[in-house]
Amino acid sequence: MQQAEIGLIGLGVMGSNLALNIAEKGNRIAVFNRTPARTDEFLGEAGDLAGQIIGCHTIEEFVAAIRPPRPIIIMIKAGDAVDQQMAALMPHLAQNDIMIDAGNANFHDTVARFEKLAGTGLTFIGMGVSGGEEGARHGPSIMVGGTEESWKRVEPVLTSIAAKFNGDPCVAWLGTDGAGHFVKTIHNGIEYADMQMIAEVYGILRDGLKLSAQEIGEIFGQWNKGRLNSYLIEITEKVLKATDPETGKPMVDVIVDAAGQKGTGKWSAIEAQNLGVAASGIEAAVAGRVLSSLREERLAAEKLFGLPAAVEAPKDRAAFIADLENALLAAKVAAYAQGFAVMTAASGEFGWSLPMPTIARIWRAGCIIRSQFLDEITSAFTKDPNVPNLVVTPAFASIVKDTDGALRRVVAHAALAGLPIPALSSALSYFDTYRRGRGTANLIQAQRDFFGAHGFDRLDGKDIHHGPWAGQF
Ligand code: 6PG
Repeated sequence: MQQAEIGLIGLGVMGSNLALNIAEKGNRIAVFNRTPARTDEFLGEAGDLAGQIIGCHTIEEFVAAIRPPRPIIIMIKAGDAVDQQMAALMPHLAQNDIMIDAGNANFHDTVARFEKLAGTGLTFIGMGVSGGEEGARHGPSIMVGGTEESWKRVEPVLTSIAAKFNGDPCVAWLGTDGAGHFVKTIHNGIEYADMQMIAEVYGILRDGLKLSAQEIGEIFGQWNKGRLNSYLIEITEKVLKATDPETGKPMVDVIVDAAGQKGTGKWSAIEAQNLGVAASGIEAAVAGRVLSSLREERLAAEKLFGLPAAVEAPKDRAAFIADLENALLAAKVAAYAQGFAVMTAASGEFGWSLPMPTIARIWRAGCIIRSQFLDEITSAFTKDPNVPNLVVTPAFASIVKDTDGALRRVVAHAALAGLPIPALSSALSYFDTYRRGRGTANLIQAQRDFFGAHGFDRLDGKDIHHGPWAGQF
């Protein structure tokens, strides 16, 4: 029997969809699942594609079915299960075989797994896959980390299954060991920020302008035709317009306002902190989800404090809605600039040479944050790959100049109305801090020197690094 080009372990939702995508693009694939009944069920559901799929009930059968060196995608729950699966697989593998973790792994675990295999003749790929169920089935964005040789082995299959943006496949080799999973983590951090900012604007429209879910859906639908055009804005319109079959009310109005999270947003914020990069939009989004989960406490606090007194609605509603659109665009620039700045710092720290234009390019389709905007980021980084911050590229500086007034007006209105906007206001503060040549940290330096003799530098460059505190007080 003709051998498979690739193997896949784990026929859950993501694994099954990825396997069907691989088969559909003309690649032979061997599949294995811990419970053999699931393998049979999967083959039964595969229809015409079943001819391209070799269903295996034992690891031995599975390994023998793949053409060496064998690339094996492990698509199971991130964490210990991956290590257990790798340990079960390893005795059956041979020189240059490649285990590929396609889950949302913490990149530190990926680096450790990669190192653990050093000297065994086996290798590892940490592969970030974005796009949810639909993406896995019809074209995800794929971020690969591993050796260049292992990438070459999987490149044809991955290129065939990746999403395409104007024909350009959204997959790339981004560097060694944890590079792919790191970039996927930052993708998710940006995803958190983008979703939080959209939710804040929804809050202003719902609680400030008192619009219905349907009306707000219309507004997002309009925005999706403009510069905010993106998958997240598109699904926001759909979600807002959906009706609960149980009650006939708008679906969003019956959903508990407590957001779940599986960890990638938090890892993004932690890595930004570890690298010393300001990623206040991502941090605000993670904190926003944490606060959202304290529903009982929030309900009790509302009883205790009440809500702030209503403020006068904006006089020109249409102009205010236009401001909201621009404010969202400005805040988006800040969040993406922060995410890319974290990757730039990580690239140096972990020795990856992460290619910023390529990352933006493979996020243009397939992934959750896919958008027109990412095409503009691709152009900006292609023109100037070493720019320290996206904000200062000519194209994005011009967006910020055009939109920061709107962001300022929206933040001011929401602050006076008591509407929570942690991510939008963090974006404004980010710009205001970044653009001001003379900040206020001179006072912090003086305080640090006062209580801890930590020293400071003088603007005039004189070689005096301590203040006269002791002598004067
Ligand atoms: C993607 C998504 C995907 C998943 C997130 C959601 O890129 O396809 O990011 O990976 O939906 O893990 O994360 P939370 O459950 O933490 O929101």
